[in-house]
Amino acid sequence: MQTLLITSPTEANIAKAADIISNGGLVVMPTETVYGLGANALDKNAVTNVYKAKGRPMDNPLIVHLATPEDAELYAYTSENFYKLAKRFMPGPLTVILPKKDIIPYEVTCGLDTVAIRVPSNEIAHKLIELSGCPIAAPSANLSGKPSPTSFKHVVEDMNGRVDAIIDGGKCDVGVESTVIILKGNSAEILRPGLITYEDLAKVIPDITINEAVKNQCTTANPASPGMKYRHYAPSSPVFLVDGGDEETIEFFKEKQQNENCGILCFDEDAKHLSANNLLTFGGHFDEQKQAHELFDMLRRFDSMPVDKIYARLPSDKGVGLAVYNRLIRAAGFTIIKANKTQE
Ligand code: TXA
Ligand code: MG
Repeated sequence: MQTLLITSPTEANIAKAADIISNGGLVVMPTETVYGLGANALDKNAVTNVYKAKGRPMDNPLIVHLATPEDAELYAYTSENFYKLAKRFMPGPLTVILPKKDIIPYEVTCGLDTVAIRVPSNEIAHKLIELSGCPIAAPSANLSGKPSPTSFKHVVEDMNGRVDAIIDGGKCDVGVESTVIILKGNSAEILRPGLITYEDLAKVIPDITINEAVKNQCTTANPASPGMKYRHYAPSSPVFLVDGGDEETIEFFKEKQQNENCGILCFDEDAKHLSANNLLTFGGHFDEQKQAHELFDMLRRFDSMPVDKIYARLPSDKGVGLAVYNRLIRAAGFTIIKANKTQE
């Protein structure tokens, strides 16, 4: 398939992409979180082609992107809590799971009676939804299993030849996918952490919990969010997360750099103590937003380095750190090793 690369996202060019969507085609669009692989959410065939283009399992549902929170009325059963969240966080990197209306095909939800709703703040995504005149179903625009794409270069690598068009929106602001929450009566549960944190959400819905699979390997066949059970975000070499204080972790990395053919992913402060060979940094130790912004780009960069394995520093699991932790622990297939082996 010939892919139209839209490097200048003028209104006229976004209108061309919107025509592709309304005619059943696939368009990769930038959002504030990561790039999305969009199709008309009301067109079953187009939605099925999204799974094919990504190589995505057919039991992992898609998020429906809307121009305004009020549009959710057309596709889902909303609630007071939905509008409380919308008032505070939409448009923005929050996805809310609601009971679906019949108009949303089961191809979008993989047979579930709920639908994930998100109103992106990215202007190109917003314009594309408005001009196409339909809700846009879009998963992250990576090949299934790879780190989500946060730049035009990433999406061209993964999707050129597989979709009708790709819109260049530069680097994504956030760098990790939206926070996903499900509303249950007066309470809520976080299924995937993101830039909008537990603490932010608890101010609006005090009765909120974090699903166990956010930090741990999912052991059930039917998790609350199907995406929880798949290996994700992985570069081609295996990733090992290293837990420990600054000094012992630097010693651990030094030893590995001498004896193994490995890549190192560390905090900015660590780099001056280590060999620059196959070393990448992903932000300051306490700068979780920068870590989120850089993480997927750094994981992809290791693919062009001659390394057999990657050792990465364990991020904080607090605030935005939880989103970084959640992605890295999945990239590492849940293996954490202690820097100081005597503590094992
Ligand atoms: O930031 C984002 O959310 C990006 C951009 C493109 O909007 N999209 C994204 O989509 O990350 P995707 O498909 O990569 O992740 C969607 C997650 C998956 O883990 C999926 O299982 C979950 O949302 N999900 C979707 N619909 C659901 C539903 N009805 N119930 C539970 N989980 C659902
Ligand atoms: Mg994804």
